[in-house]
Amino acid sequence: MDRINIAIDGPAGAGKSTVAKLVARALGYIYIDTGAMYRAAAYKALINNLDLDDQEALTRMVQGSAITLAYDTEGNQQVFLDGQDVSVDIRTPEVTRSVSKVAAVRGVREEMVRLQQKLAETKGVVMDGRDVGTFILPKAEKKFYLTASIEERAGRRYLEMQSRGYEADLEEIKADIAQRDQMDREREFAPLVQAPDALLVDSSDMSIQQVVDKILEVSREGSE
Ligand code: DC
Repeated sequence: MDRINIAIDGPAGAGKSTVAKLVARALGYIYIDTGAMYRAAAYKALINNLDLDDQEALTRMVQGSAITLAYDTEGNQQVFLDGQDVSVDIRTPEVTRSVSKVAAVRGVREEMVRLQQKLAETKGVVMDGRDVGTFILPKAEKKFYLTASIEERAGRRYLEMQSRGYEADLEEIKADIAQRDQMDREREFAPLVQAPDALLVDSSDMSIQQVVDKILEVSREGSE
């Protein structure tokens, strides 16, 4: 199959990163988690005590930062911020709570989109995020919008947080996800929305493997 770009968008906790990683592995493609880049920006803003409402300061901060991606031998993405591996630091609940605010800033997004488009230039990427099919790669050959009920998404996050040793409260996670969804959907610039040419996949009653198989099947159609 010719190398193509695959866009996977959807709300928080829909399983995008797990699925995208497996699809990339099956195709020998590069997996790009765009959310991790926004998380790196939010992390830097937090450690520098920036005012998250100061859009200019956030934009300047991102313009002066080096956010780069690397991959370990198993294809897991690592995120570097100004030369330092922050892959673990960007997954804290504190970063999760702040990231939608940072990601809503137009100047921050413009900088990130430039980097993301560059990463996909050579094709053969599976990119997951919120605006991949609508904004970053509007010409991606295959687009998917992956979603699941809020109960299912919150339940998955709960188990994931517990397995990483964080105290988790299901109702709190549900409220956090709902709030993040709302901010991502209602922001002015490049909001979370299903691209008209994206295939909707509701994973509420599907296993990870079923979702991966569906995406692989559709991605191979017309490209063999
Ligand atoms: O997928 P995630 O939870 O790691 O994403 C973190 C945040 O980044 C999410 O709340 C929305 C934002 N995001 C975005 O605005 N655009 C993207 N392409 C990816 C993520």
